[in-house]
Amino acid sequence: MTKENANTWLDTPDPQVFIKNSAKFNDLMMMYRCTVREVRTKLEVLNDEFSVEYKRNPISFIKTRIKKPESIYKKLKKLGYEFTAENIQNQLNDVAGIRVVCAFIDDIYTIADLISKQDDITVIQLKDYIKNPKPNGYRSYHMIVEIPVFFSKGKTPMRAEIQIRTNGMDFWATLEHQLRYKQNIEEMDGYTEVSDELLNCARAVIDMDNEMQRIKDKIGQFHDI
Ligand code: GTP
Ligand code: MG
Repeated sequence: MTKENANTWLDTPDPQVFIKNSAKFNDLMMMYRCTVREVRTKLEVLNDEFSVEYKRNPISFIKTRIKKPESIYKKLKKLGYEFTAENIQNQLNDVAGIRVVCAFIDDIYTIADLISKQDDITVIQLKDYIKNPKPNGYRSYHMIVEIPVFFSKGKTPMRAEIQIRTNGMDFWATLEHQLRYKQNIEEMDGYTEVSDELLNCARAVIDMDNEMQRIKDKIGQFHDI
């Protein structure tokens, strides 16, 4: 046990304390699962309404995840914080993660706008990696939101990360993530070439997304879509 880990939840020789701390951690993860459900429902409601109103779905699918204990531990450590319930809640914004995959680029902004306008949602942070893609080609619209969740002990403000992207952006990001994380490509020879090739793929996806949007706008001049 290193000194820098001292006083964290894991640093206790007392089994009773360890059991109590584990229960507290499980309780917190339950709260994040509920947060994800609340946000998912809000998105599904919007998608449902759209399908009745405009006869199409702006959302293709929604994926959710709760950050794994090991990733929570590693991220807190990277930021220089101890592994405690308070630090998880105060320092991490992405324990609850919701990924919204949309049909068209304008659907992303429509969904983001409708979510932002809901009066129980507070937008903490926005990152528009669509207007400003990451240098590697990554594109998505990221929102950190805070939402009240009602538990028996009362109303608790909970944070969640919502990533909104098109099918094309999701296709690229999912494959890039697999290639980058599984193979440690940063360390291999010819990494520059590979990152250029990934960037080219990202450009091809941008062209496709823009073209699909253009076709939608063209059809939209005649039909309300
Ligand atoms: P994290 O420490 O990773 O949470 O980064 P951050 O706090 O700077 O947030 P940012 O908004 O940049 O990224 C958050 C999340 O977006 C990541 O956890 C990924 O899910 C996704 N993401 C960001 N950059 C990339 C990328 O280059 N490739 C892929 N595939 N996903 C990315
Ligand atoms: Mg993250």
